[in-house]
Amino acid sequence: MGNKVNTIGVLTSGGDAPGMNAAIRAVVRCALAEGLDVKGIRRGYAGLLDEDIIDMDSRSVSEIIQRGGTILYTARCPEFMTPEGVKKGAQACKRYGIDGLVVIGGDGSFRGARDLARLGINAVGIPGTIDLDIACTDYTIGFDTAVNTAMQTVDKVRDTSTSHERCSIIEVMGRHAGHIALWCGIANGAEDILIAERYDYDEQRIVKKIMNRRITGKKHHIIINAEGVGDSHAMAKRIEAATGMETRATVIGYAQRGGSPTARDRYYATAFGSKAVDLLCAGKSNRVVAFSGGKFVDYDIEEALAMTKDVDQYMYDLSKRL
Ligand code: ADP
Ligand code: F6P
Repeated sequence: MGNKVNTIGVLTSGGDAPGMNAAIRAVVRCALAEGLDVKGIRRGYAGLLDEDIIDMDSRSVSEIIQRGGTILYTARCPEFMTPEGVKKGAQACKRYGIDGLVVIGGDGSFRGARDLARLGINAVGIPGTIDLDIACTDYTIGFDTAVNTAMQTVDKVRDTSTSHERCSIIEVMGRHAGHIALWCGIANGAEDILIAERYDYDEQRIVKKIMNRRITGKKHHIIINAEGVGDSHAMAKRIEAATGMETRATVIGYAQRGGSPTARDRYYATAFGSKAVDLLCAGKSNRVVAFSGGKFVDYDIEEALAMTKDVDQYMYDLSKRL
């Protein structure tokens, strides 16, 4: 059976994530293998509206699988959140003959893909965010690299924290989701993991815990804060004042969004890219690819956006028992 599309466009949108390049590579090479033309749209939906669109061949994605960031650049585009913006985007797709679009990004980017699908552009989303906060999928591109970067940083901070017998508060990314903090906290053996989904802001409890542990001979204290919890530097000052223990805050920040992707991120990104092309070739639209229950699957974007996701309660409880 012939392919239902002739030209696939690919863009990255929202926050970048290590492994996006591996996904772009898979989309380009799988589409070419199907005999399709491929266009790269630079700077996400902003580039679609500006028609910053380039032809892609096999060589355009050489030597990128190991690179962090996204060779197509990314952006946030408020104009695309208006009906006029989406209409302009659909017209640009038509002008360039793009009849299938792969959108690599998070929930916001999928909303844009859904809106284009409503205007007749076949669109498929690939979950790309370090935050792991896309409900329909157990895996999002970039999470593994981000967690490993954060974990290695916390290990380093722990060394100096131990030497100086300090309390260290280390803030990891995740404005709305505590997955990085929970994974990191478990992997680093942190004394406290504070995530917006669970934290009750009872700082006195933390202060008492630090004091009690000091009595039992504990020389340092590691607290992992998810970004969404608040100002870690201000918290460090309050904890130091209340405990008398020297306390420092480290905000890891954007380092978590960069760097060479782990094998896991490259592997899943490659599978997601291939699945997205398969769906478009089969004439499917308004879908998002996902990894769920140990399998690669796909969902209707509307259905996917309506799903909710929480941090793993078992692992959260476990962190308190260790
Ligand atoms: P992410 O995709 O990582 O969730 P954002 O929420 O910033 O990141 O969304 C990225 C881009 O997707 C936005 O800048 C905008 O262009 C587009 N977008 C977001 N929400 C919508 C929406 N409701 N309708 C149409 N486009 C949207
Ligand atoms: O990519 C997700 C994320 O890193 C969040 O954890 C963070 O809150 C946000 O992006 C910050 O991104 P920016 O500063 O680029 O808007």
